[in-house]
Amino acid sequence: MQVVGWPICFLAGQRPHETFRRPPRKGNTVDYKKFARQQIEAIRKTVGKGKAISALSGGVDSAVCTVLAHQAIGDRMKVIFIDDGLMRQDEPKWVKDQFAKLGIRVTILRTAKTFFKALRGKIDPEEKRKAFRDTFYRTFSKAVRDSKAQFLIQGTIAADILETRKGVKTQHNVLDQIGISAKKQYGYTTIEPLKTLYKPGVRKVGRALGMPKQLYTRMPFPGPGLATRCLGEVNPERIAIVRKACQIVEDETVRLKKFQAFAVLLADQATGVTKDGHRRFGHLVAVRCVNSENAVTATATKLPWSTLMTIQKRIYKEIPSVTKVLYDLSPKPPSTIEYI
Ligand code: XMP
Repeated sequence: MQVVGWPICFLAGQRPHETFRRPPRKGNTVDYKKFARQQIEAIRKTVGKGKAISALSGGVDSAVCTVLAHQAIGDRMKVIFIDDGLMRQDEPKWVKDQFAKLGIRVTILRTAKTFFKALRGKIDPEEKRKAFRDTFYRTFSKAVRDSKAQFLIQGTIAADILETRKGVKTQHNVLDQIGISAKKQYGYTTIEPLKTLYKPGVRKVGRALGMPKQLYTRMPFPGPGLATRCLGEVNPERIAIVRKACQIVEDETVRLKKFQAFAVLLADQATGVTKDGHRRFGHLVAVRCVNSENAVTATATKLPWSTLMTIQKRIYKEIPSVTKVLYDLSPKPPSTIEYI
C-alpha cells in the first residue's frame, strides 16, 4: 500500500482542487483504477480539442503516462521516442514493438548527434544534466511545433520533483520547480499526470490500466540515459562501453530481486597486465545493484559471489579495454543510485 498524503501533493506543486490530483483512497488502500480514470478525464479536459505529444522513453513512468494519455485522447496524441544515442542496447526497437502491440504508434526521432554535441567536453554532473535537459526540451519544441500540438505529456513522478527541489540533482524532466516555464521557454504546456506518485504507485496504475506486466514492472531507467552512468566525457565510444557493460549486468541479474542493476564507466584508467606480461592502462567499470522501495533511499543488493564472478569475467572478455571491475557497496544516502 502506498500512502500519498498532503505533503507530496504540496511537493508536486498541486492543490487538491486542481485537475491532476493525488490518488483517491478506498478504505485503507489507494484506488488506482479510480485514479487512472480521473487522470484520463483530466487529460481530456486539459487538451480539449487540441493536440499533444507524449515523450516516451520506454521507462515505466513514461510508458504508463503514454497509455493513460492514449486512452484519453487517442490519435490526437503523437508518441515520440527520442533516440538520443544514450539508450540501452536495442531499446528503440523494443519500445516501438511493445507499443505497436497495444495499438500505439511510436515515432522514433534519431537525434544522437545533437545530444553528443551538447554533451561534448562536459565533465561536471550538473552541467551534463543541464545540457541534456536543454537539448531534450528543444528537440520536443520542434516536434510540438511540427505537429501543431500545444501540450507535452511526460512521466514526471514525485521522486523526480523531490530530488530536484532538495537540490540533490536536477532531474531531466523537472522545469517549474527550477523556475523554467515550459510555455515561455519552449512554447508548450507540460502535462504530468503521475507527479503525485512514487514508483510503486506508478506500477499499480500500469496494472490498473491493464498494461502488459513486462512494461509496468520494468527496471527504472533515467531520462538522461547512459549519460548518468558515464563519468568524465560522454562520447559515442565511451557510451558504447557502458552500454555493453550495462547489458552484461542486466543479463546476469535478470532473475534476481532488485530495484535497479547497471554498470558505470569511471573517468580514470587503471594499470593492468596483458597475458604476455606487458603493462597496459584500461577502463574501470563499477557494477551497481540496489534494493529500494521508491528510489529515495537504497541499499546495495547482496549479490551472490558467483553472479559477481560471472559479471567480471564477461566484462573483461567482451570489453577488452577494461582492466578493473568493482562492486559498489554504497547505500543512498550518502550515495545516490546513479553516478551523476
Ligand atoms: P538517484 O541517482 O537520484 O536516482 O538516486 C533515483 C532514481 O531516479 C532515476 N533518475 C532519473 N530519472 N530523470 C529520470 O527520469 C533523471 O534525470 C534521473 N536521474 C536519476 C534513477 O535511475 C533512480 O531510479
